[in-house]
Amino acid sequence: MPPKITAERILDSMATAVLVFDAQSRLTTINHAGEVILNHSARHVKGRSIHELIVNAGEMNAQIASTMSSGQTVTQRGCLLLLPDAPDLRVNCTFTPITDAAGNLQVVIELRRIDHHLRIEQEEGLITQQQATHELLRGLAHEIKNPLGGLRGAAQLLEREISDAALKEYTHIIISEADRLQSLLDRMLGPNNLPKIQPINIHEVLEHVRELVKVEAGTGLRILHDYDPSLPDLLADRDLLLQSILNIVRNAAQALENEGQIILRTRIRRNFNIGSRKHRLVARIEVIDNGPGIDEGLRKQIFYPMITGRSDGTGLGLSIAQALISRHQGLIECHSKPGETIFTILLPLDGKHEP
Ligand SMILES: Nc1ncnc2c1ncn2[C@@H]1O[C@H](COP(=O)(O)OP(=O)(O)O)[C@@H](O)[C@H]1O
Ligand SMILES: [Mg+2]
Repeated sequence: MPPKITAERILDSMATAVLVFDAQSRLTTINHAGEVILNHSARHVKGRSIHELIVNAGEMNAQIASTMSSGQTVTQRGCLLLLPDAPDLRVNCTFTPITDAAGNLQVVIELRRIDHHLRIEQEEGLITQQQATHELLRGLAHEIKNPLGGLRGAAQLLEREISDAALKEYTHIIISEADRLQSLLDRMLGPNNLPKIQPINIHEVLEHVRELVKVEAGTGLRILHDYDPSLPDLLADRDLLLQSILNIVRNAAQALENEGQIILRTRIRRNFNIGSRKHRLVARIEVIDNGPGIDEGLRKQIFYPMITGRSDGTGLGLSIAQALISRHQGLIECHSKPGETIFTILLPLDGKHEP
């Protein structure tokens, strides 16, 4: 006979978080997955009241009481748990009554995370949308580029033929506007040459962006940094990366009207998903501003081209940024409320970079 496996070992091997509470709603047992969710060791949380462990424990506490009195197993779906020392999470909770060795009633709560799946689905959607936008942009830019070249050439010929200065003024406008459109299209298409992939120190790039935006914005704007020095070099095209981050930081500076604070933050994430692809190491770059936030009506669309909230905006900054980041298998996310807007760039750090 192989050695017996204890119930405790089995509990700890489970992916489902298990928490057991007594009649006073104090935690009596927790497994390893439960410790991970609460972000505390069993030693630290055992014996504590549910109200100390979960910020919004009211509903769960009521369910513990009613499970004890009814003796029935109950599952609640999609509960939001606010935790004091860990990120909020959405779970399905199953409450089951049991009696302990002394004959006292306790309630076993199984917590299965669902926010994880939701996040992956949302990110997959975002990646598909970003790829579609990128294709659309490239197609559109190519379509406009050729006739534009013809227009400019014709205006140039015309300019040579006419001597009237007032008329030349018109051809001049056509040529300079065509040039402006041309450079806009070049920006939409990205650089002509193939990306130059090399090891990049992301902090050096961020410092460069910081200098550029500081010069543009003047002294009313503070740009702070909070870098994780353990972040390794990432394989990327420096110019493309710089342009994407610059577009995001510039937007933040514009939203702040050059009065306020931007934080550039880097972190490393292990075993992290970008969409459905799991990466061993991911660089997380956050641009956080304390401005008014993104207009609610625009929030869902800001990554689409031509969407702008500014009278002099082109609405291209973010769609270009996301196209460039997705060429590096990365993703840009955005969370915004008045007083805090966070743009998060996620980039894989584990090789295979062929943007
Ligand atoms: N940090 C931010 N705070 C508030 N609004 C923002 C921020 N970043 C982007 N936006 C909104 O998203 C819009 C689209 O940005 P973008 O694609 O760069 O185009 P543009 O800057 O030309 O308007 C902006 O016009 C602005 O309304
Ligand atoms: Mg912009």
